[in-house]
Amino acid sequence: MGIMREIQHLDPLPRHVAIIMDGNGRWAQQRRRPRLFGHKAGADSVREAVETARKIGIRHLTLYAFSTENWQRPSLEVKGLMGLLKNYLQSELDTMKENGIRLECFGQKDRLPDDVRNMLDSVIAATKDSSQLCLNLCLSYGSRAEMIRAVQEISRKCAEGELKSEDIDDQLFSDHLYSTGQPDPDLLIRTSGEQRLSNFLLWQLSYAELYFTEIPWPEFRRDQFLAALEEYAGRQRRFGKTGAQTETANS
Ligand code: IPE
Ligand code: IPE
Ligand code: MG
Repeated sequence: MGIMREIQHLDPLPRHVAIIMDGNGRWAQQRRRPRLFGHKAGADSVREAVETARKIGIRHLTLYAFSTENWQRPSLEVKGLMGLLKNYLQSELDTMKENGIRLECFGQKDRLPDDVRNMLDSVIAATKDSSQLCLNLCLSYGSRAEMIRAVQEISRKCAEGELKSEDIDDQLFSDHLYSTGQPDPDLLIRTSGEQRLSNFLLWQLSYAELYFTEIPWPEFRRDQFLAALEEYAGRQRRFGKTGAQTETANS
């Protein structure tokens, strides 16, 4: 069945989907393969998620690919992940340009190896004018570090007289995060059974719908993504109001 027919049940679509892509290592270990085998298969799921999001018209997709805490993994795994990341960026550049995908990076870019950072910067520069889908790759990302960075920047502006403390509100704080200018995620997906946030977008997820699935990331493909979107479409988002108020507003 064509994807356009399938998406009829997916109304309303989230504007922004964030995904904690978890379970690559366990998936590989269950197959008696090294963890990196799982990360490789996970890269194919990334391709499929991006393509699915673009085809059905999701405008923002944020993928948690490597956390500030992940630097503590064995150095061989970290090296392997960085290599896969570089391959991914290299192989996807043309597709991104053809499909109107803009790449952004959330995280501490300066901690990435030089070759990965250079590749990342060149893809970001080459896709900066695209507007079909904004793909935010979270690399060396941690939500606490992101918020501390925002507080530091805001306090520097206050000290230099560029801002007054009364100017600080939700919007101003959001504008100092990596996600500046983008809507907050409407839907958070985490694969592989864990039900935690692992330092991901703590500010931006304030009102997101949460979707947890047992499916490991390497097996999370188009149909699983569509199932998450279908569940989202059936949720009632109340934002503090009553169900009745929400229904009237939507009718
Ligand atoms: C997610 O899979 C990818 C990264 C965190 C880089 P994991 O590597 O965390 O896989 P599990 O959770 O150990 O199975
Ligand atoms: C979260 O997964 C980070 C990414 C998916 C990149 P982890 O597998 O590192 O999370 P924890 O440590 O088990 O919570
Ligand atoms: Mg994990």
